[in-house]
Order: sequence, then C-alpha cells, then structure tokens
Amino acid sequence: MGAMPQEVDLIKMEMNIQAEETIGERTFFSGSLNGFDTVLVFSRWGKVAASSTATTLLDKYKIDFLLFTGVAGAVDPILNIGDVVIGKKLYQHDMDARPIFPRFQIPLTDKLTFSPNEIHVSQAEVAANKYLNNLQSDISIEILSKFSIVHPKVIRGIIATGDQFVTDTQAHEGMHLSDSEKAQAVEMEGAAVAQICEEYNKPYLIIRIISDKADHSATIDLNAFIENISNHYSRGIALEFLSTLQNNITEKANEKIESWKIEDPSVLMT
Ligand code: ADE
Repeated sequence: MGAMPQEVDLIKMEMNIQAEETIGERTFFSGSLNGFDTVLVFSRWGKVAASSTATTLLDKYKIDFLLFTGVAGAVDPILNIGDVVIGKKLYQHDMDARPIFPRFQIPLTDKLTFSPNEIHVSQAEVAANKYLNNLQSDISIEILSKFSIVHPKVIRGIIATGDQFVTDTQAHEGMHLSDSEKAQAVEMEGAAVAQICEEYNKPYLIIRIISDKADHSATIDLNAFIENISNHYSRGIALEFLSTLQNNITEKANEKIESWKIEDPSVLMT
C-alpha cells in the first residue's frame, strides 16, 4: 500500500496482475509478486483515506500482512534526504482529546503508540540495507546527486503521523511524543494504518523514505523525488523484503523436514 499512484507504479509493473476492483474510489490490483499473493493499492493522502483502505485490505481481501511504503519529512537532524526509516514506533501527533484523555492517546483505548513486530522491523532493515548497497544499479548517479543523495542510511525510527503536511521546523518541537522519545520522521498515514492493523491483530510494517526536511522547502521537489527516487526505493525494498520472507519460509520448512528425518531407520524394523 502507498499513498500516491506514483509511489506504487513500479511495484505494479513487477506484479502479475490477475484482477482489478474499485471499492470506495480505490482500485485494488490483485495478483502475485515474487511468488506471494499480493493486493496493491494507493490510498490517497491522510489518515482517513489510509485507514479506510487498510480496512478494505483486511476485511475484504483478508490480507495476512500489510506493507506500507512512501515518503516522509525528516524531523530528526540526523536524517538526510534519501535515508530510510523503518517505523519501530508510530503515533498520531494530531490526536489530542485532553483533558478527557492524555495527549496522543486514542480515545477509549489505552494506546498512545503502535509498534510492529520487531522481527519484521529487523527483516525490513536488512532488506533496505541490501537495496541501498546496490542503489547505483537502480538509480543513476546523476539523479542521486541531483537530490544530494550520497551515503543514504537506514534507521529504525519513531514516526509521527497527522493530517498536516509539515513545512515549518517550529512545528517539530510541539509534536514530540516526550522529551526522551522524539519524533524522527513525519508523515500522514503510518500510525492510522498501524492502528487498524493492530485492531485486526494483523502484522504490518511502515517504511518511509525521507523526501524533505519538513521545512519551508519541503514541497519544492516532492513530486520529482517520488517519480525519480522513492518509487525505485519502494519497489527495491519491497522485493528484497519478500525475498527475506521467502528465505525464512524455506528455512523453516527445511528445519521441519530435518526434524522429521529418522536418525536410525533400523528403529522402524522391529
Ligand atoms: N510526507 C513527506 N514529507 C512530509 C512532510 N513534510 N509532512 C508530512 N508528510 C510528509
């Protein structure tokens, strides 16, 4: 799942599409990707659009896993354009029902934050690093340098989600979860998707590529970044991640077969 058509276009080209269905103004493409049954969709921007799309994926398509990829603005100064943030903790920075509930808490739940399974976060980190190690085979140096991408890195980070495109660094201070847990990247869908997946008890991952520094220049190159850079990252990281999952499935199957093997077949011949 992505928020914009350009963010999922290259993944779509990689898929073997068998069906296409429009529900609630969103088109869901079903087929296979790297041997996995897959449904691909873009939600449009914002928490409502993203949660409604996630609900259809879970409810109608009965997906077992939701992978969201897209762009984000950097809040943490260690992040540069072209870096990748794998969400290890996500929250809705615009959720504020005080004084009835604490700031950021989802009303009538005890939740402030959402955290995907750590094993999946690690697998995504490995996948993203693998992709970045071969970045120049996917995107030319000229294009990378146009966006000043030199040594991009991957971090597991805290993602703040809200229905605002942030273009003012003064807003960063007011959105931190706490003094010790500061937002590192800001976007408009991740924690909404995370909330729905956790309510449906399904695993998920939110992977974000830093497109801007959530400051006055945030909008300048956004479309060009998505069309030239992050669409490639999304495809590359998603494919690496699926390969990691595939290897894990194969390893587990082999371990099982190994455990069934009888060390001494003569024990059967009594
Ligand atoms: N997605 C990408 N950049 C963003 C920003 N600056 N604010 C919110 N969402 C974003």
